[in-house]
Amino acid sequence: MSRIYNFSAGPAMLPEEVLKTAAAEMLDCHDSGMSVMEMSHRSKTYQAIIDEAEADLRKLIGIPENYKVLFLQGGATLQFAMIPMNFMVHGKADYINTGVWTKKAIKDAKLYGEVNVVASGEEGGFKKIPDLKGVKFDKDADYVYICDNNTIFGSKYKEYPDTGDIPLIADMSSCFLSEPINVKKFGMIYAGAQKNVGPAGVTICIIRDDLLARTPMHPLPAYLDYRIHAENGSMYNTPPTYGIYICGLVFKWLLKTGGLEAREKLNEEKAALLYDYLDHSKLFTPYVDKASRSLMNVTFRTPSDEMDAEFLEGAKKYRFTNLKGHRLTGGLRASIYNAMPIEGVKALIKYMAEFEEAHK
Ligand SMILES: Cc1ncc(COP(=O)(O)O)c(C=O)c1O
Repeated sequence: MSRIYNFSAGPAMLPEEVLKTAAAEMLDCHDSGMSVMEMSHRSKTYQAIIDEAEADLRKLIGIPENYKVLFLQGGATLQFAMIPMNFMVHGKADYINTGVWTKKAIKDAKLYGEVNVVASGEEGGFKKIPDLKGVKFDKDADYVYICDNNTIFGSKYKEYPDTGDIPLIADMSSCFLSEPINVKKFGMIYAGAQKNVGPAGVTICIIRDDLLARTPMHPLPAYLDYRIHAENGSMYNTPPTYGIYICGLVFKWLLKTGGLEAREKLNEEKAALLYDYLDHSKLFTPYVDKASRSLMNVTFRTPSDEMDAEFLEGAKKYRFTNLKGHRLTGGLRASIYNAMPIEGVKALIKYMAEFEEAHK
């Protein structure tokens, strides 16, 4: 067996230790005589798995009592619609546009009410998080929406907007659990699992109770109503059982390896190596402005599409995969989530230096 360095933006690498535990428990999990996939979600064994996953996540982040944790399906994409359906109760919300994922969220929100885009990075090609000084949020807005880490362009908020009493809602899909989170700053946080947390198919939502107490403008189908999921402990219907189990193993791994503070340090170290190389390179150019750089998704390019293609071809020899930029942006992207070891980043830099030397 030999594992490769997978720089995918998601689904992405998972910690080897987690995969080994999952493999060891595949045929007989917790003396049940079956795999988690074969277990009833109503069984005691499974209830213990989901309860432990939630308790570990609460401990890891420090989630206050007045927030519910939900494990849902439908990807982060379903949240683009569920958020306005559930929380746009006066028909108005403020959005900050930082790339493809906020544009999609804005499009869905417009189906339910007035969307005010209070700041946008679009004119500058989404190379940075827009300057929020002087931005006025509508005091009647039901919420302010941001995407914390922009997976495609590779930008990240270093400071969150001060929205006063208006709840701040953040898509944290590609930075969730990569650093400590001050949950109290937010009305809601959500993340698709397939980057830092687990397999695709699980979306984690952390929602403050006062938002859940709002009455939606229109009656909602059961699955699209957060309250129903909250009242049923994410078990209104069959949850993504195996995915939640893997997320639970990842939470344990994070707790065991020093929690989110330790993880942030490591992630900063990994990203600093790569950005430092890019800043000194005469061949590769980083895409995002220094002040807005993501620690998870590092975007860059060579002088031409042809050379980008040559770089990707050469990467195969070293068994590096998924270094191609998103189809909308082109260029190159190295996603270096929690499970990417620092050795992987160092090996990539070594290859980049070799490539640069060969193209002098
Ligand atoms: C920041 C962000 N939000 C939303 C999504 C959409 O996620 P999904 O494909 O799980 O619906 C992605 C996917 O990569 C993402 O990176």
